[in-house]
Amino acid sequence: MRILITGITGLVGSALADELRQRHDIIAAVRRPLKFKDTFAKERLDLNDSDTIKETVEAAMPDAVIHCAGMTSPDECEQNREECEQINAQATAGLAVVCREIEAKLVFLSTDHVFSGKEGFYKEADSPAPINFYGATKLAAENAVRKILPGSIVARLPYIYGKSRYRGDRFTEWIVESLNSGREVRLLEDRFRSHCYLGDCARALAALLEEGCEGLFHLSGGNRESRYRFGVMLAEIFGLDKSLIIPSQSDDPAEREKFSAERPRDISLNSEKLLRETRFAPLTIEQGLENLKKFFSA
Ligand SMILES: NC(=O)c1ccc[n+]([C@@H]2O[C@H](COP(=O)([O-])OP(=O)(O)OC[C@H]3O[C@@H](n4cnc5c(N)ncnc54)[C@H](OP(=O)(O)O)[C@@H]3O)[C@@H](O)[C@H]2O)c1
Repeated sequence: MRILITGITGLVGSALADELRQRHDIIAAVRRPLKFKDTFAKERLDLNDSDTIKETVEAAMPDAVIHCAGMTSPDECEQNREECEQINAQATAGLAVVCREIEAKLVFLSTDHVFSGKEGFYKEADSPAPINFYGATKLAAENAVRKILPGSIVARLPYIYGKSRYRGDRFTEWIVESLNSGREVRLLEDRFRSHCYLGDCARALAALLEEGCEGLFHLSGGNRESRYRFGVMLAEIFGLDKSLIIPSQSDDPAEREKFSAERPRDISLNSEKLLRETRFAPLTIEQGLENLKKFFSA
């Protein structure tokens, strides 16, 4: 397949490109020259500029587009609402229209932040009710994609931890750096997500595309944990000082000051549908962290 990937300089896009390049022709849609040497064919794409979307896709003429690019920090989205709306919602809808015109399959990456977090362990049939602007724009994009291209794939991702050739996830790197320098970290005991290992995320998305799936899918890691428990497991597996990890609660004034966007309480995802419809099987957090440790000690 000829696959155009947006957001290839990001965490998920870079890992996905590495997973798929073994079997497919990859074209990277990027907004600035890549800093690293790479062998991907490239097209320019700026999601702030709607005209480039049509030009980019028509120049590449892919069989499939995997749309990983977006404004991904909930706090940045809250502070830059207009730009967030354009990048996450309008540009995604525009991409879906072009994909329909050239009959390309679209895979859109959405988020667990489309849920309110009141229930947890969400299935695809559960009603989304985002409590922050990031979640609202991703939900608007999902709705547009599903309406314009009913045969597309919309994959809702949980928190992705890991390292690709180009970068790692910020949460894990911050914990490792802090503990290595003897600094305390405060992690929330009352906020839950289904942390998923980056390599698993790339393999699951590849399976959805390659196995011809259509529709809405939830991806989750092997288990649901609080941010605090995840940090403790990371410290244990990496041999770091876990006594530096201090449990905190989201209603602590110090925690509330850290974020501009509301953080939902429990947005863990149920991925039974994905497991049923593909050959994908996720690692547990312990196995994922053991894999990640090899990158840090390499
Ligand atoms: N990582 C997670 O834990 C997670 C969880 C749930 C959902 N998701 C979703 O999964 C997708 C990938 O996430 P990620 O963590 O890999 O994101 P990321 O690391 O933050 O990367 C974002 C990517 O989007 C590109 N981008 C941003 N604005 C752009 C613009 N105006 N025009 C063109 N490209 C632009 C960035 O390019 P530059 O390098 O040029 O800035 C970068 O390649 C996103 O849609 C996100 O909402 C991720």
